Amino acid sequence: MCSRDPASNQLIDYKNKDSEPPTECTTASGIPVGVKDAIMTVGPRGPALLQDFIFLDELSHFDTERIPERVAYAKGAGAFGYFECTHDITKFCAASVFDRVKKRTAIAMRFSVACGENGSADTVREQRGFAIKFYTEDGIWDLVGCNMPVYYVRDPSLFPSLVHAQKRNPQTHLRDPDMFWDFMSLRAETMHALLMYFSDRGTPDGYRHMHGYGAHTYRMVNPSGETFYVKFHMKTDQGIKNLDARRCAELAAHDPDYSIRDLYNAIKKGNYPSWSLFIQVMLNEEARKCKFNPFDVTKVWPQKEYPLLPVGRLVLDRNPTNYFTEVEQLAFSPAHMVPGIEPSPDKMLQGRLFAYGDTQRYRLGVNYMQIPVNCPYRVNVKNFQRDGAMTVNDNQDGAPNYFPNSFCGPKESSRALALQTCCPVSGDVYRYMSGDTEDNFSQATDFWTYTLDNCGRKRLVRNISEHLADASQFLQERAVKLFTMIHADFGRLMTEALNTAKISKF
Ligand code: HEM
Repeated sequence: MCSRDPASNQLIDYKNKDSEPPTECTTASGIPVGVKDAIMTVGPRGPALLQDFIFLDELSHFDTERIPERVAYAKGAGAFGYFECTHDITKFCAASVFDRVKKRTAIAMRFSVACGENGSADTVREQRGFAIKFYTEDGIWDLVGCNMPVYYVRDPSLFPSLVHAQKRNPQTHLRDPDMFWDFMSLRAETMHALLMYFSDRGTPDGYRHMHGYGAHTYRMVNPSGETFYVKFHMKTDQGIKNLDARRCAELAAHDPDYSIRDLYNAIKKGNYPSWSLFIQVMLNEEARKCKFNPFDVTKVWPQKEYPLLPVGRLVLDRNPTNYFTEVEQLAFSPAHMVPGIEPSPDKMLQGRLFAYGDTQRYRLGVNYMQIPVNCPYRVNVKNFQRDGAMTVNDNQDGAPNYFPNSFCGPKESSRALALQTCCPVSGDVYRYMSGDTEDNFSQATDFWTYTLDNCGRKRLVRNISEHLADASQFLQERAVKLFTMIHADFGRLMTEALNTAKISKF
């Protein structure tokens, strides 16, 4: 960490920006404050008086200034910029962001660490969040992804347990290797994502040097109403860089906010980070015949069969002017889709469509969409929702709050109607358990065999063994069985590495 980098200089910059003398301070109600550093007391030694509104105004606001942190992906960094469409994909998608090459759409992005709390170190081994908000003229489109193309589980009913197993033990309040490996080794579908988690990409060098992925399959609708399945990829233009274990530990000790600082400084210096957006496209017919379930978020689509098609560029050129207002209050939701983009049947995605708005009503309040950073400011929002805590806009004045009506209330959108797709679905209603009915290993085997080179495989084995060695013996054995199913060499190397770890502990 450099002591006089742009982030360290923020207050000096603020002072120099404004040559005006400081304005007078006030209470929240705007009353001028004459004395700011003394409470009102009876005599110089106290006691204090309840009538001291200046003190109570300050203290009562302070008492309530924390909001709940995000239940997952709590620590993060955000910035603003634009998306520029560079390639014509209108044959696949009618969304207004893609309707013209060179068109720019304002964006907000937030990067985050999946399971650590708001004060945790940025460089720990974790999955990273990669969320993009597009402020389109058709409303908000949020693409809420991560730095891995796959996720651990494929049924949303497991998400709370997945997060609990990675967070703190309810009694000891410590992160607990037994919880982690118990859950992961009981669900073989976690193996593909776990290999990525323990590979080099689990410790990216800040947020600028990692790729992002939408992970799920989405559906695009073109202007003629034809539909296509797609996956989104965001490739870093800065190049991939990862940190080795020693550097991660050093940074965790000396600069735990390394990734936030790195993003802020780069943007402040005019070194604007960017990512190239690509899609993979799968036709309906291909989806029907696909040898794996294309709606299973634990799977990648092989790029040889479904090549990356270039779409555009995401550029970040503005830091937040206030972190709480513009980043902590950012509310992304996979349910925020615009005409031309729809969910696929992916069960995890379907589960997420509910969770984000639900948590944000709790975290930020029912009117969280009125907060400027979340507000679809390019659209004149007209609907039949009213009131609720912290209504801070005109609450739609006297417009009718019911539909249908005969008094000039908002009418339905012909554009959204034209792009509405009709999607046949049939099947028996049942709780379909997917733990062992899908292929859990082939793609993990491909990752071990083809994606990693020899050195990458060695680092993977070392990273896993250092973590797994702290779990109970029976969990180590259960995990090694799964590694052996991925590849016999992997199982053997893991057994050797765990034995070495045991010897070095004595
Ligand atoms: C059923 C599955 C899932 C559920 C129920 C779920 C739920 C949540 C919740 C409740 C939050 C906190 C949101 C907030 O407070 O604003 C969150 C944040 C987040 N989730 Fe998920 N999640 C799921 C799966 C995923 C997957 C598969 C990914 C990545 C591909 C992902 C990426 C993120 C990211 C990046 C954030 C932070 C967004 C931000 O920067 O504000 N989640 N998730």
